[in-house]
Amino acid sequence: MPLKDRRILLIITGGIAAYKALILIRRLREKRAAVRAVMSSGAHNFLTPLSVSAVAGAPPLDDLFDPRDEHDVGHIRLSREADLIVVAPASADFMAKMANGLADDLASAVYLASDKPVMVAPAMNPMMWQHPATRRNMERLKDDGVAIIGPETGEMAESGEAGMGRMSEPEDIAKAIEVFLFGTETKTPLAGRSVLVTAGPTYEPIDPVRYIANRSSGRQGYAIAAVAARAGADVTLVSGPVSLPDPRGVNVIRIETARAMADAVEAALPADIAIMSAAVADWRVQMEGGEKIKKEQGAPPPSLSLVENPDILKTVARHQTHRPDIVVGFAAETEKVVEHAIAKRQRKGCDWIVANDVSPGTGIMGGSENAVHLITENGVEDWPRMDKEAVAVRLVTRLADCFAKQV
Ligand code: CTP
Repeated sequence: MPLKDRRILLIITGGIAAYKALILIRRLREKRAAVRAVMSSGAHNFLTPLSVSAVAGAPPLDDLFDPRDEHDVGHIRLSREADLIVVAPASADFMAKMANGLADDLASAVYLASDKPVMVAPAMNPMMWQHPATRRNMERLKDDGVAIIGPETGEMAESGEAGMGRMSEPEDIAKAIEVFLFGTETKTPLAGRSVLVTAGPTYEPIDPVRYIANRSSGRQGYAIAAVAARAGADVTLVSGPVSLPDPRGVNVIRIETARAMADAVEAALPADIAIMSAAVADWRVQMEGGEKIKKEQGAPPPSLSLVENPDILKTVARHQTHRPDIVVGFAAETEKVVEHAIAKRQRKGCDWIVANDVSPGTGIMGGSENAVHLITENGVEDWPRMDKEAVAVRLVTRLADCFAKQV
C-alpha cells in the first residue's frame, strides 16, 4: 500500500467537478492515505463542508482568517505537514492564482507557503482551457515543477458542451498520485529496474550547416523518463536535439543523428525496459558534404540521395543478447493509425506500441497533449486525449504493474 499513512492535502476549488473530489477522497482513503481537505470559497457553491467532512473523516478548512483555525492548524503548518498537495478540481481561476503567486485565501496561501510536491487536476469549460491565458498559466505551473493530470475530453456536466476540460476520473487521479509519490518512497514500483528511453527528433546532416529533421518536440519521451525516474527506475534518456531541460534524476545522453542514437542505445543496454519514443529519421543523406554546398551560377539545384538509417527499435526488440524484458515502440501515423500500428508491432518485434495520430490538425506533434492507443498482445486500448505527462504516468503505471505481476 504505497499511500498508507501518506498525508495528502486536497485543495478543492470551485467547479461542477467538485463532486468528484468526494470520490477522490474515498479512493485515497481506501488506499489508506490520510486526507485533509481545504475548500476554496468557490467550492462552497458546489459542495458542503459537511459532505467533505463525512468522507474525509475530518472537517475541511476554508477560511484564512479564522483565528481558531489559524491557532489550531495554521496554513503554514498545514502545508508543511503534507507529503503532497493535490488540487482537484483545479479551476482556471485557481490555476491563475497559483501561476502568479496570489495568496488571498487559505487554499492559495497553503499552496504558496509550501515546498511540497504539487499535483493539479484541471477542470473547466473547453474554451477556458484553450484560452491563451490558461495555456500560459499551465506552462508556468509546469516550469514551477507542478505535475498536471488531465484534463480529458468529454461532455461537460454543466453545459453538455464537448471538448477538452473534463477532470480526470478520481480513480486515475488516485493512481497518478501513487506513481507521483513513488518518487519519495523508499519502496518504489520500478526501484532496481533500468529504463532506457529515446526521445526527440534526429538531425541528419546535408552539409556542415544544413540538416533534415522533423517536428518532434521530445515532450512525450521526456515526460516518460521523468515519471519513470520518480517511480524509482534508473533511467537513461537518449535524446535528439530538443529545447527541454534534463528531467530530474535522469541520465541524459544528447545526440544528433540516428546513427549516434543507435550507438548510444547499444551502449546503454542491458535495460529492463526500453521505450523508444524518438522520431528517428528513416533516412540520411548518402554523401554528407564536408563543405557547405554552394549555389553555382546556372547550375541545377543539388539532388540528395538518401540511404536508410538503422532501425533502433527493431534492433533492440530483436537483440540477441540484451533484449529488454519489455520493449515499447511508438507509431506516429497520419492515417489508419491502429491498423498501421498493429502491423508495426509485428514488424518491429516489440511488445507494446503506443500509437497516435499526428496529422497537422490534431496539434499533437510539438503540442502538450496526446491521444494514444496502446497496442499489446491482448488488443487495442483507446486512451482519452490528455496531457503528455498524464500519458506518461499511465504508461509507467502499466509497466510497473507488469513487473509487479511477475514477482
Ligand atoms: N524507430 C527507430 N529507428 C528508426 C525508425 C524508427 O527506433 N530508424 C522507432 C521509433 O522510435 C518508434 C518506432 O520505431 O518507436 C516507429 O517509428 P516509425 O518511423 O513510425 O516506423 P517505420 O518503420 O519507419 O514506419 P513508417 O513506414 O510508418 O515510417
